[in-house]
Amino acid sequence: MGTVNLLGISGSLRAQSYCTAVLHTLSELLQDEIRLTLHPLADVPLYNADLDTSEPPAAVRDFKQAILQADGLVICTPEYNYGIPGVLKNAIDWASRPGFKSPLVGKPALIMTASPGTAGGARAQYQVREALSATLARPIARQHVAIAGVAQKVTDGRLTDADTRQFVQSAVRDLVTEIQMLRRGRL
Ligand code: FNR
Repeated sequence: MGTVNLLGISGSLRAQSYCTAVLHTLSELLQDEIRLTLHPLADVPLYNADLDTSEPPAAVRDFKQAILQADGLVICTPEYNYGIPGVLKNAIDWASRPGFKSPLVGKPALIMTASPGTAGGARAQYQVREALSATLARPIARQHVAIAGVAQKVTDGRLTDADTRQFVQSAVRDLVTEIQMLRRGRL
């Protein structure tokens, strides 16, 4: 099937972020020619159309290049005040330009949320999906991944809860299946 290169994007900049921990864990768990590389958003500046030229800020250039080269995106984000964190929305806004011709066009994406709370960040999912849809990316349709009580499921920066480890791996497998179907022209 060939190597599948996935780009991991965390909606949290926090060093001890649970969402980043989920992505790090996935990068270690994935096998069989599936690679996941995290791309931190810490250096991406606030969107400014004046800087959105053919020579954007270096962090923006690098982020867009990483999206272009990836076969798919794996996003794991917290919800902030029932919605998408500004950090993630800002990064999507940068990556979405030029409109409808950006590296996001046609890019398959798995959306995951995590929260110490009982809703698992599920309320942010709709907004992430909507923002990606606006860019013409391809957020995949599957049972949603919302990791509730994540503080009890992460230890020392890694997802340690066995059921959740399996669940997030199965979600990534669904993303890879979609990528393979796209490669074969079946979608
Ligand atoms: C939160 N948190 C939060 N949690 C939640 O389930 N629903 C919410 O609406 C919010 N809102 C919210 C707003 C702001 C500004 C902060 C800083 C936090 C709690 C949040 O889920 C928690 O801090 C997570 O640990 C953040 O994710 P990372 O950084 O661990 O990946």
